[in-house]
Amino acid sequence: MSKINAAITGVQGYVPDYILTNKELETMVDTNDEWITTRTGIRERHILKGEEKGTSILGIEAVRGLLEKTNTDPAEIELVICATVTPDMLFPDTANIIANALDIKNAYCFDLGAACSGFLYALTTGAQFISSGMHKKVIVVGADKMSSIVDYTDRTTCILFGDGAGAVLLEPSDEFGHIDAVLKSDGSGEPYLHQKAGGSRHPATVETINAGDHFIYQNGRPVFKAAVSGMSDVVKQVMKRNNLQNDDIKWLVPHQANHRIIETVARMADFPMERVMVNIHKYGNTTAATIPLCLWDYETQLKKGDNLVLTAFGGGFTWGATYLKWAYDPS
Ligand code: ACO
Repeated sequence: MSKINAAITGVQGYVPDYILTNKELETMVDTNDEWITTRTGIRERHILKGEEKGTSILGIEAVRGLLEKTNTDPAEIELVICATVTPDMLFPDTANIIANALDIKNAYCFDLGAACSGFLYALTTGAQFISSGMHKKVIVVGADKMSSIVDYTDRTTCILFGDGAGAVLLEPSDEFGHIDAVLKSDGSGEPYLHQKAGGSRHPATVETINAGDHFIYQNGRPVFKAAVSGMSDVVKQVMKRNNLQNDDIKWLVPHQANHRIIETVARMADFPMERVMVNIHKYGNTTAATIPLCLWDYETQLKKGDNLVLTAFGGGFTWGATYLKWAYDPS
């Protein structure tokens, strides 16, 4: 019996309307457009404004668009996985909130963490349910409202992040789809990238709030170094394991954290930048949403049978690379 692959049969992204430019950030912290652009490649990011609006709002819009463009009846969806580090609340899971808003009544739903690698972890998880023959239609959504955990007085982090969501539909295919993944994690990375409070170790108190412990903490240099070596290493591993030469890969799809990281990974893995997806300049780092937002932006350039390698690195540390064959031509 031939292996059942999980093919991406549709992709949709969503970013909120408000655009936070480098110029506006200059009025908030001691920074400038030139520093941000040369050190990170980011020019603007989208921010979800308004009271009581959580990550689910972003995920709902992405999944709504996905259902519409793939002509999918919500009742057919059997599983929804939402990768996020900024859930609406600790429970219920944001995947449940997204499904409920869209009348996805016959699915079970759960969230998955893994920070910036969340989408890759969720994609591989969702793909297993298709490959096992258990499900026929699975939605994987990466969504983060990073502005909810960013300290807009900290110039070292507030310039980096944006809000957004991207969703894919997974369906069985014997020819295309998710072929292989190398996923890694290393808990010793915790000191360099984390959110100190709000969990069970340090529940919210007046002290944790006053100390700013509910915001992202990042020591950028060690994260940069680990991201570069981690991603280039797993990209090479997944290619070697599948006997792929660089020319066999149409697109490298890296997590969008810093343009310099993307360029260095591409150079170390021997990919020309013309075959590397980049949209960090307009969205910044949207954590679990960067990779599906790339696929959405480049969808019209993707052709049936194209080989793609997706790679990410994030808090944890977590990282990985996924090899897939694109399943459809542009419409
Ligand atoms: N504007 C102006 N100056 C700044 C700014 C700013 N926004 N931010 C920092 N600086 C200053 C620093 O204070 C420092 O000044 P000093 O030399 O006087 O001390 C100087 O610029 C250099 O700072 P570095 O931190 O060394 O700058 P670096 O070149 O490393 O860039 C950055 C910082 C962009 C954060 C980089 O380290 C990076 O991209 N790290 C990895 C990010 C990442 O991949 N994260 C993983 C995913 S996130 C997730 O999982 C949620």
